[in-house]
Amino acid sequence: MLSGMSVFREDILEGHVALITGGGTGICRGIARAYLAHGAKVCITSRRRELIETVAAELSAETGGEAIGVAADVRDPEALVAVVDATMERFGKLDTLVNGAAGNFLAPAVGLSSKGFRTVVDIDLCGTFNAAKAAFAAIEGAGDGLILNISATLHYHGTPLQIHASAAKAGVDAVTRNLAVEWGPLGIRVNAIAPGPIGDTEGMKRLTPGELAAKLAGQIPLRRFGTIDEIAQMAVFLRSRAASYVTGSIFVVDGGQSVTTVGFT
Ligand code: HXC
Repeated sequence: MLSGMSVFREDILEGHVALITGGGTGICRGIARAYLAHGAKVCITSRRRELIETVAAELSAETGGEAIGVAADVRDPEALVAVVDATMERFGKLDTLVNGAAGNFLAPAVGLSSKGFRTVVDIDLCGTFNAAKAAFAAIEGAGDGLILNISATLHYHGTPLQIHASAAKAGVDAVTRNLAVEWGPLGIRVNAIAPGPIGDTEGMKRLTPGELAAKLAGQIPLRRFGTIDEIAQMAVFLRSRAASYVTGSIFVVDGGQSVTTVGFT
């Protein structure tokens, strides 16, 4: 039903089963919705049990697809194994992992505690590694595997108040390339999407308080924030057969923000 809003064929993801971390909100909720609308089965996970179960039910009803929600913290490798097991039990296979769970806040380096820095690296970077490890055997067994990491463009330049998230996402890019090399021969493609400022997300609410949002939008070559759906469509493409020779790549979807010299400040 919802795939009418998409440029892709309605059944383009039929037969795929995806685990999506951070799938309760924002960009990854949108990816879950798009995958379901195109025929994939989806398990979404986040720390908040109530939220994740409610969102899974909502997305199933909205798209006519099959979604489950299983709570886990991506900092807990054993909890992720349990999520993979639950996905296998319900859907019988797992061939796709979308690593979207992320934490963030604005903080100057001088005021950021070691624990604060580590918390974001633990969630974004270690969480990506943990989930990839937990899902590896199932994804390898399924064949035609995909790991899709949600990165960012923060670390392409120095971004004020974002030392923790920038370091974490630089690591996510490294993990993307390394896993592509190690797991390509095993039939698993590994790619990333690096979104720019995307409207209607918790991240942008936190990072662009007050009038900063309008100022920032005015500096983007396409003169607006992106939409969740514009990221979800890239995620559908990367899961589709159209991307069968694409691995180790990081796709920037940012309205040109990261290539302009007109800056944030
Ligand atoms: C300074 C902060 C802080 C803040 C937390 N900390 N918030 N430091 N400013 N605003 C510090 C704490 O003080 C503490 O260190 C440490 O981080 C751990 O905090 P906890 O609250 O105990 O941790 P936890 O509950 O596990 O998680 C914290 C959190 C979480 C990561 C900030 O609340 C969270 O995930 N929120 C946001 C989710 C989100 O926005 N996701 C979208 C990301 S967007 P001390 O030393 O004090 O004990 C994104 C894209 C970026 O990543 C690119 C956009 C263009």
